[in-house]
Amino acid sequence: MAIAMPPPPTQSAPGTLLQGKYVHPWRSPKGKLKGLVLQTPQGTVVVKLPKYLRPMLVRELMPETWWQVWAQPEDDHWEAVNLLPLAAAAIPDLAAALAAAPSPAANGGMGTEAAVRPAAPPTLRLQICQKGKCCKQGSRDLTRWLQAEVAHNPAFRHVVVEPTGCLKACKHGPNVCVKPGSRMVHHADRAAIQALLTQSQP
Ligand code: FES
Repeated sequence: MAIAMPPPPTQSAPGTLLQGKYVHPWRSPKGKLKGLVLQTPQGTVVVKLPKYLRPMLVRELMPETWWQVWAQPEDDHWEAVNLLPLAAAAIPDLAAALAAAPSPAANGGMGTEAAVRPAAPPTLRLQICQKGKCCKQGSRDLTRWLQAEVAHNPAFRHVVVEPTGCLKACKHGPNVCVKPGSRMVHHADRAAIQALLTQSQP
């Protein structure tokens, strides 16, 4: 029986985008299938899939295939929101990034299980007001643009975009609150956000 693919992610798909090579399934201590292990340029990560995606794991995920996962970080794994095959055009660049990344053996000699830890959690959260004056001054367009930038640029994996309510600085919109730290960017535009992204790159 064919397995239905999940709906394609929208610009507002929540979570951090992880891209990498499927390594093997991830099982609970009782042996139940829970998710997958993905090799990414940032390290090898455990991704827990929602139940409706697990049949896909059983029947369609083949070792050495390439995937993109939208996920939220938990203590010792990632919780997937959506999972899709990686576009063929993106595979060569990602394969090159993986080849250039330090191997687990070179990374303190950790074996596979020890290396299976969440990738670095998002380090930059950008909360963009979607209300009142900010909306009238283009905050929703700014949000869509930023979500697309983050989704398509692997250098911005550490960035999370959070559409939010009024930030209480309505006269100075569009407003963006930068976390951690809660620094406010008033009159935000693409150039200001691009500068923030560039400064924040690890
Ligand atoms: S409407 Fe955006 S800060 Fe109030």
